[in-house]
Amino acid sequence: MVYQAHPQRYQTMEYRRCGSSGLKLPAVSLGLWHNFGDATLLETSRQLLRHAFDLGITHFDLANNYGPPPGSAESNFGRILREDFLPYRDELIISSKAGYTMWDGPYGDWGSRKYLIASLDQSLKRMGLEYVDIFYHHRPDPETPLMETMRALDHVVRQGKALYIGLSNYPADRAREALAILQDLGTPCLIHQPKYSMYERWVEAELLDLLQEQGVGSIAFSPLAGGQLTDRYLNGIPADSRAASGSQFLNADQITEAKVEKARLLNEIAGTRGQKLSQMALAWVLRHEKVTSVLIGASKTAQLDDAVGMLSHRQFTAAECEAIDAILNRAN
Ligand SMILES: NC(=O)c1ccc[n+]([C@@H]2O[C@H](COP(=O)([O-])OP(=O)(O)OC[C@H]3O[C@@H](n4cnc5c(N)ncnc54)[C@H](OP(=O)(O)O)[C@@H]3O)[C@@H](O)[C@H]2O)c1
Repeated sequence: MVYQAHPQRYQTMEYRRCGSSGLKLPAVSLGLWHNFGDATLLETSRQLLRHAFDLGITHFDLANNYGPPPGSAESNFGRILREDFLPYRDELIISSKAGYTMWDGPYGDWGSRKYLIASLDQSLKRMGLEYVDIFYHHRPDPETPLMETMRALDHVVRQGKALYIGLSNYPADRAREALAILQDLGTPCLIHQPKYSMYERWVEAELLDLLQEQGVGSIAFSPLAGGQLTDRYLNGIPADSRAASGSQFLNADQITEAKVEKARLLNEIAGTRGQKLSQMALAWVLRHEKVTSVLIGASKTAQLDDAVGMLSHRQFTAAECEAIDAILNRAN
């Protein structure tokens, strides 16, 4: 059936300014790392994208290597875009990245000009796009001069193949240097994409302040710790969960009794707030104005409803914050 986006889609979502740029992002964004490769039924991926957009989620995040196999998330997304979303292209913020291993040999990885420019061309082809809205360097490269990588990012913007530039996984010191170079080149960095959740708080030490001071937005990836900050694992490991899927990023061994106990205690606090644990975990990341958007994954449309439902209850009392910190500080 021909897709027609929900007419009320802009009424449920909050759109937050990305740093000091002109661009606003939805408070909740959807990542296509899992559940969009060839291992997932295309119709499942399609329903997730349609449902997300119907809820006002205007930002879809990809990378060259998302799959499996690598590249297939972009190809499948390209097909769904062509079949369902072409009339809505200008209502969407589509991002891609390069920085992890994508093809064999010395030019398919890290941060050379050769790799980044070739990879973006491949991504555009797979998705059937003339440009992406945001192109990221996916991880810092300890060997390539930062100037070369930043010049390549500046170049793709000047070519019209990306509208904005982002950095991902850059620690604060490297980010500071990169931001200064991009500023000098005349293509200021729009956004940084770090991992940030109740279970992974490194950005709080320095990075978030740096980004705010420099007018750069931030989008927190894996804010639910891949599902560990939800009720998914409170009673064992469901067969349809990520931890049961053979993922190299979340496996059954990581769901320890101590982790489950933490999640149970957090779940009790969420309950007193009238929320699900997943909703409290997302609201907690968004409690900083410095965070522009939470970048979630979803395997079911109901998970998208949960995420967007969080927006109506975002405040935390000082007592709740203290109680949450006390739980997070327990040993794993
Ligand atoms: N820049 C980078 O280096 C980098 C790295 C990783 C990810 N990312 C980006 O961040 C995005 C999100 O990463 P992520 O998938 O790890 O995010 P996440 O939001 O922490 O985890 C998503 C998973 O949690 C479970 N879940 C979500 N909502 C739920 C709910 N309401 N109740 C129960 N379970 C729920 C689902 O897993 P089940 O399958 O178990 O249902 C879902 O796939 C990626 O798609 C990608 O765009 C970027």
